[in-house]
Amino acid sequence: MNNNNNIKPEYKKMSDSPYSPCLIEFDSDSESALDYLYQHTREIENILSSAGAVLVRGGGFNNYQAVEKVSDLFFLEALKYNGEHYPVAENTSVQRPVNYANAEFLLWHNENTFNHSFPAKAIFACELKADVGGQTPIADSREVLNNLDKEVREAFINKQVMYVRKYESHDFLGVGWKTIFNTDDKQTVERLCREKHMSFEWVDGDILITRAVRPAVIEHPVSGELSWINQVLHWHFHCLSPASQEDVKVMFEEERLYPRNCYFGDGSKIPNDYIDHIHAVYKQCQMQFDWQNGDLLLVDNVLKAHARNPYKGERKILVSFGDVITY
Ligand SMILES: [Fe+2]
Repeated sequence: MNNNNNIKPEYKKMSDSPYSPCLIEFDSDSESALDYLYQHTREIENILSSAGAVLVRGGGFNNYQAVEKVSDLFFLEALKYNGEHYPVAENTSVQRPVNYANAEFLLWHNENTFNHSFPAKAIFACELKADVGGQTPIADSREVLNNLDKEVREAFINKQVMYVRKYESHDFLGVGWKTIFNTDDKQTVERLCREKHMSFEWVDGDILITRAVRPAVIEHPVSGELSWINQVLHWHFHCLSPASQEDVKVMFEEERLYPRNCYFGDGSKIPNDYIDHIHAVYKQCQMQFDWQNGDLLLVDNVLKAHARNPYKGERKILVSFGDVITY
């Protein structure tokens, strides 16, 4: 390991908000930056658990090998392929983001929080920035919670969220159950659903509907701060574009057969005006920066939600998730 005690990167707040992410800026290369991160891991972890996100700039983290080394530093355990993100190469936990139409805005979410277990931390690194757009906006989940109307906040705290997902047997408008559960055997699927704390229903023999009730708000495992942590906007039918809503209504006669949707935990509908309000609060709380090639963003997945702006040109982001929180 090089002796890089002479490297003194700048630490800056990225906005005036008390929830601002921290920027650590190097004038360096990835080996020297890695060395610095190695020597200051605890200090940066402390910043991460209060600021919620740390952008490391100028370290040349534009390849999966370097990102993997950072995940080894900051994660006790890097999470492997979960059926939704694909590894960059064999034998690495570094993955590509979910495919999503370039021209669309991918709404804010805390990664995988519709699952019974989800990552505590995430790393995003920029291998190649888009020509236009493609930022990864982040919103502080404590700030979002604090800015929600009391009625909305309490409804979600009391009733939680039910995520409903419909799977065809094969990949069609999304991955099929045989892919996501990696088996052809229905009994295995049922066992895995029970293990994942989801109920299941088979429709017409070969269509699977799963329902999972999860909290909308949890305490941060280190600080105990309350955080708005869910994927309501990602899942609610009202968040689809009007054209997509029409397509889904034409394609599927019954609402329960929509590819995915969410409700309150008791199965009652989440009003559309609640969804509009949540959307507006995220928008008000979000901050964003332009990716530079080699940037690496460390994210506390309980404290920060992330999104993705539409973009033009090629865009290559590397992602890695680590350490598990279970509801
Ligand atoms: Fe994500």
